[in-house]
Amino acid sequence: MLTEAQFAIVAQEAKQRIGLALTHERLAFVDARLTPLARRENCACAGELISMIQRQGDDMLWHGVVDALVMSDTHFFRDRAQFRALSETIIPDLLRGRPAHARLRVWSAGCAAGQEPYSLAILLEEMREEGRGGLVDILATDISSRLLDKAASGLFSQFEVQRGLSIRRLIAHFERVGEMWRIADRLRAAVRFETHNLLVDAAQLGPFDLVLCRNVLSSFGEADRRETLERIAAAMSEDGVLVLGAEEDYASLTGAFEPAHGACVMRRNAYWRRAA
Ligand SMILES: C[S@@+](CC[C@H](N)C(=O)[O-])C[C@H]1O[C@@H](n2cnc3c(N)ncnc32)[C@H](O)[C@@H]1O
Repeated sequence: MLTEAQFAIVAQEAKQRIGLALTHERLAFVDARLTPLARRENCACAGELISMIQRQGDDMLWHGVVDALVMSDTHFFRDRAQFRALSETIIPDLLRGRPAHARLRVWSAGCAAGQEPYSLAILLEEMREEGRGGLVDILATDISSRLLDKAASGLFSQFEVQRGLSIRRLIAHFERVGEMWRIADRLRAAVRFETHNLLVDAAQLGPFDLVLCRNVLSSFGEADRRETLERIAAAMSEDGVLVLGAEEDYASLTGAFEPAHGACVMRRNAYWRRAA
């Protein structure tokens, strides 16, 4: 079992490296998450693993520790009402404000194993089939290269496709590969995956017209939340829209956004400038 002192060190690394805020009550959770990694590294327990890393000062192992702690639960079309709003109002509004040949630039920030950006790609394809879509580029990023490798493979288990996909969408957009399901190549090609840490500047990735950063900031402390929101704003077009998780209402943290389409959907404040 991790000691209190070891937990404090892990919590500090997790906060510094990825913004993950771990309070004291999470000790048992952290211990359970690190035990498999400890076994792979031939340590008897998580405590022994942390002692070894401290002795060796091994940055790669710290990387593994933090990767084991990320909260990555997700599913296709998570929060259906948000996808409905994207299809019925948010994306049509953004398209209306742009020339017909312009490409809408979309960023799925904290995309986990890809269900969110692939849901977007499916939605946008369906909108195009209904004559309501435009040209779109989707960038999907995450801190975890383990999750991004899975996302880029486009392969999902039966359990994963059952979470959020209707049979109609499963048949239309996936093919069976042994025990797994693979998303159609055209949809896989529609999403570009890249590693990106939301704690560092994102301006060079943008500008984006639409950003989904859902269920990521809830694991951050308040200062990291605010600064991340401002980094996202700096990577957005002046009328860009940011969609947070359905339970995430952070509009009051910064002047960079104003509420639009409900509390967890915000429009970039066109007058906001990032402090130098
Ligand atoms: C709970 S998942 C959310 C997935 C999806 N957006 C959704 O709403 O279902 C949170 C994701 O945020 C990623 N994440 C956590 N901290 C991050 C950081 N500092 N930079 C980039 N991604 C991060 C995690 O790796 C994880 O994949």
